[in-house]
Amino acid sequence: MTRLARPAMSVAEIVIREANTAERRQAADLVITAFSVTASPPTPNDRAALARAITDGYADRTHTTALTAWSGTRLVGAILYAATGAESAGFPADWAVLRALGVTTDAVGRGIGTALTVDAVGRGMTEGAGGIGLYTADTNLRARHLYAALGFVVMSPGQSSELARAGFLRGLKEDS
Ligand SMILES: CC(C)(COP(=O)(O)OP(=O)(O)OC[C@H]1O[C@@H](n2cnc3c(N)ncnc32)[C@H](O)[C@@H]1OP(=O)(O)O)[C@@H](O)C(=O)NCCC(=O)NCCS
Repeated sequence: MTRLARPAMSVAEIVIREANTAERRQAADLVITAFSVTASPPTPNDRAALARAITDGYADRTHTTALTAWSGTRLVGAILYAATGAESAGFPADWAVLRALGVTTDAVGRGIGTALTVDAVGRGMTEGAGGIGLYTADTNLRARHLYAALGFVVMSPGQSSELARAGFLRGLKEDS
């Protein structure tokens, strides 16, 4: 029998909760590392800017809620939720915004990213947001698969207000 270095993790064991200040810093580091292993890792030039944006986002307690996923005492994933009005990021004013989702490399593919996004989407619905917006790269197939499975649709300029009237929407914009 093979002994695993750590117990296998199932999403049922994962606890999602809001992070405190120290945990926010930990979450930013995790997400920065997660982004370095995506299908299209940032170039060295972009890397510093991306790391700064993630660090700043997780430090900004005024505009964001940091949702973190825990396997016991181990942080395994995080996402930022910005409530309606906290930041528009190019989406309609009554939309909530999600950003900086990341799951630690050895825990991907177990539903943790989905669970974090579902939690964040639930917050948007609870607060009565007109929709939920996020950006992702067209090359980030894993993320796109996850978002599509949760009902996110690719938005294009001019469509958003029309779509917003159709009901509760999850909009995804491609990074330019
Ligand atoms: C994107 C990310 C958050 C996904 O986290 P995760 O915990 O692995 O996500 P889940 O396990 O909930 O779901 C991943 C889904 O993608 C699928 N998938 C995995 N690799 C894939 C690929 N190359 N192409 C398409 N789908 C893929 C999985 O099968 C799974 O779908 P399923 O539930 O239908 O089986 C994680 O890979 C990550 O941290 N990536 C780096 C940072 C990043 O890209 N963040 C998102 C930026 S918008």
